[in-house]
Amino acid sequence: MQTILAIESSCDETAAAVVRGGNEVLSSVIYSQVPLHQPYGGVVPEIASRSHIEKIRSIVEQALAEAFPGEADPWSRIDAIAATRGPGLAASLLVGWSAAKGLALAAGKPLLPIHHIHAHLHSVYLDQPLPPQPDDYPQLALAVSGGHTCILAAKQPHAWKLLGQTIDDAAGEALDKAAKLLNLGYPGGPVIDKRAKVIPVAQRKTIPFPQGRLTEDHPLPPGLSADLCLSFSGLKTSLLTYVQKHPPQNDADIDQICACYQEAVVDALVKRLDKALQRNTYKTLAVGGGVSLNSRLRERLATLAQKHQVKLLLASPKYCGDNAAMIAGLAAVGGAHACENALALDIDPSMEL
Ligand code: KG4
Ligand code: ZN
Repeated sequence: MQTILAIESSCDETAAAVVRGGNEVLSSVIYSQVPLHQPYGGVVPEIASRSHIEKIRSIVEQALAEAFPGEADPWSRIDAIAATRGPGLAASLLVGWSAAKGLALAAGKPLLPIHHIHAHLHSVYLDQPLPPQPDDYPQLALAVSGGHTCILAAKQPHAWKLLGQTIDDAAGEALDKAAKLLNLGYPGGPVIDKRAKVIPVAQRKTIPFPQGRLTEDHPLPPGLSADLCLSFSGLKTSLLTYVQKHPPQNDADIDQICACYQEAVVDALVKRLDKALQRNTYKTLAVGGGVSLNSRLRERLATLAQKHQVKLLLASPKYCGDNAAMIAGLAAVGGAHACENALALDIDPSMEL
């Protein structure tokens, strides 16, 4: 059973973790840079990169100390070092990947490159029993965060095939941009979730936000079908138009807008998953990424899973956002990219699925 130390620094969280056997999280330390980016209403790459550099060493040391309290030589307990190689912000990835290279060289341990989105999908197994492999497959999966919105399918572990994705903004980005427009602060997902909850579904107004559908003739990469892809950029524009025509007068108006906007985002995701579940038989539906914290999305996913008789696998809230436990866990179950010499590899900010 492998014990892996991992680093994650693809965006605005500096994280390190130690995981044994793919699912037993011995430590998971996350330093969130949210307060640093809040004044700008979004992640500023230069600030993110500098903060990663400042924090990475102490975060790794803390992860090791928490995993092996009182151990004189915690490095002797580590079999390999994993890190996110992509996708993500180049200046952020570079810090974690370079640190992992340095540690691997110094400690004489193998270096394992990990795909960030694959790791989000592994997060559903952290602190949970790993399945006897055939039980969870075929699996349909949704990775939904501030940077990504992808629908994937796998017939067996790690054999991911991309079925659909956003062609512009990610779902979390659509929520963050809406919150910025409504002056609700950053990040937008949690605040929109909270405000939407105030309005019971039955009391919701109908604001006609678009569903992000693509026409059949929209150019897409090979293998992707238009009806499993999404577009969120029109949604943000329609919010701007709506707010210009109907400026919110009070908190209740803002709650209504949040509820309708969030429903449009959630509905777009659930409809694509519904289509994919109609098309093929799956045993499980795995959902990971920061937006999977959304309470309305969780509700709608539960109903969808029941309708199609699939088991819903959701990450525990502490592993939904960016964390290094998902990187270490995936590495421990053989999910790293096969390569001859990882030390010779550079980061890959737009790493393909
Ligand atoms: O996975 P994550 O931490 O980082 C990325 O890889 O992007 O996801 C961050 C995203 C942000 O867009 C944030 O607004 C969104 O997750 N988010 C939520 C909620 N909590 C975080 N979106 C909707 N509802 C939430 N409760
Ligand atoms: Zn992420």
